[in-house]
Amino acid sequence: MSDPYFQSRFAERIGGANYGKSTDIYKFEKIKRAKRAVLAAHPERSLLDFGIGENDGMAPEVVRRRMADEIARPENRGYADNGIQEFKDAAAGFMHRFFGVTLDPATEVNHCIGSKPALAMIPAVFVNPGDVTLMTVPGYPVAGTHTRYYGGEVYRLPLRRENHYLPDLDAIPAEVLRRTKLLVLNYPNSPTGKVATVDFYRRVIDFAHRHGVVVVQDAAHTVLTYEGEPLSFLAVPGAKEVGIEIHSLSKGFDMIGWRIGWFCGHERIVRALADVKDNSDSGQFIAVQKAAITALDDPAIPVRTRQKYERRLRKLVAMLQQCGFTCEMPGGTYFLYSPAPKGTADGRVFENAEAASQYLIHEHSIVTVPWDDAGPHLRFSVTYEAADEAAEDQLMAAAKERLTRIQPVF
Ligand SMILES: Cc1ncc(COP(=O)(O)O)c(C=O)c1O
Repeated sequence: MSDPYFQSRFAERIGGANYGKSTDIYKFEKIKRAKRAVLAAHPERSLLDFGIGENDGMAPEVVRRRMADEIARPENRGYADNGIQEFKDAAAGFMHRFFGVTLDPATEVNHCIGSKPALAMIPAVFVNPGDVTLMTVPGYPVAGTHTRYYGGEVYRLPLRRENHYLPDLDAIPAEVLRRTKLLVLNYPNSPTGKVATVDFYRRVIDFAHRHGVVVVQDAAHTVLTYEGEPLSFLAVPGAKEVGIEIHSLSKGFDMIGWRIGWFCGHERIVRALADVKDNSDSGQFIAVQKAAITALDDPAIPVRTRQKYERRLRKLVAMLQQCGFTCEMPGGTYFLYSPAPKGTADGRVFENAEAASQYLIHEHSIVTVPWDDAGPHLRFSVTYEAADEAAEDQLMAAAKERLTRIQPVF
């Protein structure tokens, strides 16, 4: 097939004239293809799917009922622009009840259509060509991708066990620091499942002041905290002077497809990001914002979601430990991040986590997500579909039976 006349017109940021010609397959696409292949080849074998990164539950019934009610109200029909004040009030109320953080809902909070778009827009607020964004790896890459779109650079901060999966801020070269505008953090961290500490955040605030860096803390998974109490960056004295935190109802409230979240923190940054947002979208449907208020105002919902995923993670950790994996209970998120096996007892050798993950899918119908950015690891998600606790136990028993047969070697 010949190229369309505009092939040479694609912007360099997406590959220029080579756009669409790469034969590299993105890892999640590889997993999808492997799943399809194994389901066709072994229809008799159940797929044990620890690969999905999305909540398995529907939004709570009270939230769905509020939505059904609001959808029929004429006053909700229009452009929402930067959001309704009631949502900002509810988000500020939640920040206060959940984390003890006090915010001015008029100036220090703004809704967003999920946290992903806010992470995509924040580089527009700060990044000029040549500026640097510090991004932790492995991690959620969106702010880094958009940094590059604006001509900026990404400097990767590896998260390693020996540093408690916190970035080593002292190891960043002075030349990079001089050009750094943004530090993007994400705690509880996806995919490592680690939580931050007050002491770490204190060091981050000091670092930000010393180097003139703005901090963006992605708190998408924060409701799912198992180690200690959920911690907001903004709860640490001085944090509001140096940045913002981005929150989401996707994970903690089972509202992943509803596309609603908020950013909060320093008034000037909130305003600037809201300005960019106002020039990018016209706000989330007001009915969704109102349904989200019902969610935020119901303290039982985060407790329920957290308890469910904590229970599932504990079962997973126990099962994997029995099968030889070196892993411990994550501090947060619905992911378990564990060193990938190097091979199997029958002599198979995996050159990296991706090879281990492909083997597990193709040969044993066990789906995981590989991460090779900071040492070979597998991510197991507990968002699998299971109707009740008995079904969860059955799934664990099936995984244990298969992994025992495989005899992974570490
Ligand atoms: C770390 C992290 N941040 C942000 C997001 C985006 O979430 P949402 O746009 O649904 O709020 C995700 C989703 O997977 C995530 O894992």
